[in-house]
Amino acid sequence: MSTDADTPTGSTPSADRTGSTPAEPTGSTPPAEPPGAGPDGSHMVVFDKVLKQFGTNVVLDHLDFTVRRGERVALIGPSGSGKTTILRLLMTLEEVDGGVIWVEGQPLTHQFKGDKLVKASQKHLRAARSKIGMVFQQFNLFPNMTVLGNITEAQIHVLGRSKAEAVERARELLATVGMSDKEDAHPTTLSGGQQQRVAIARALAMDPDILLLDEVTSALDPELVADVLGVLRMIAETTDITMLLVTHEMGFARDVADRVLVFDKGKIVEEGTPEQIFTDPQKERTRTFLKAVLER
Ligand SMILES: Nc1ncnc2c1ncn2[C@@H]1O[C@H](COP(=O)(O)OP(=O)(O)O)[C@@H](O)[C@H]1O
Ligand SMILES: [Mg+2]
Repeated sequence: MSTDADTPTGSTPSADRTGSTPAEPTGSTPPAEPPGAGPDGSHMVVFDKVLKQFGTNVVLDHLDFTVRRGERVALIGPSGSGKTTILRLLMTLEEVDGGVIWVEGQPLTHQFKGDKLVKASQKHLRAARSKIGMVFQQFNLFPNMTVLGNITEAQIHVLGRSKAEAVERARELLATVGMSDKEDAHPTTLSGGQQQRVAIARALAMDPDILLLDEVTSALDPELVADVLGVLRMIAETTDITMLLVTHEMGFARDVADRVLVFDKGKIVEEGTPEQIFTDPQKERTRTFLKAVLER
């Protein structure tokens, strides 16, 4: 499981990314001390030399990064740079080929057997995944269920809430996303923007600690984008949920993100505050990407 044979030293390039935390101890065997929590328990997500490949296509190349509790991190970069794969790994929809992902100080992709890390069992993955919610580009609502059914189903079957509790929480969230009058509607009768607002409510209904947003406005007609982004801005302002957001909406990234990671070919080419990345990018790759996006 050792994946760091080709990294020259124990100090990772990510060591100073959080601005405050010293380098985590790394070694050729899984660390006895979990690096996932961070020295002050502030690490929500840690990617530790994560390798992901499809066949011979190396999509994430020993990727290191850390997200602090409550932080909003925007992942930007050209198509095919690995952004969706990062979110799908966190959602446990894909498996890593090397390295370890940690969530709230616990291994996500692995579990401890004694003091050794072994590949996570399905049971471990199910439990770990319940902390994480994801909203997809294509909404992915259950077409055969009403809006209310979509939002209550997993609350009841995964969290074990009573139907009444689940309905109460669903109605709160439908009010939050401005969809109270549509609880009996079927997804196919809704606009894309409405479907996406339901999908956001469905993700939040699980009370996740981490919300993953994958180009949630890319499939929407332009006039519906603002509604959905408005809902997400409000959620960002009124909750302390940790967010990883993949977006081509640079204005949204700028408003919501605390930090921007620029990806190319499965690696972070540059990172900084939105201010730094959008007004004073240091890398040519960042500049050409931003130019292409802004000229869309
Ligand atoms: N299920 C898959 N099977 C094969 N290749 C995949 C699969 N998913 C993603 N890829 C490849 O991984 C790379 C990164 O894809 P992705 O994470 O979707 O990038 P992004 O979201 O940044 O556009 C691309 O080369 C893509 O073709
Ligand atoms: Mg993608």
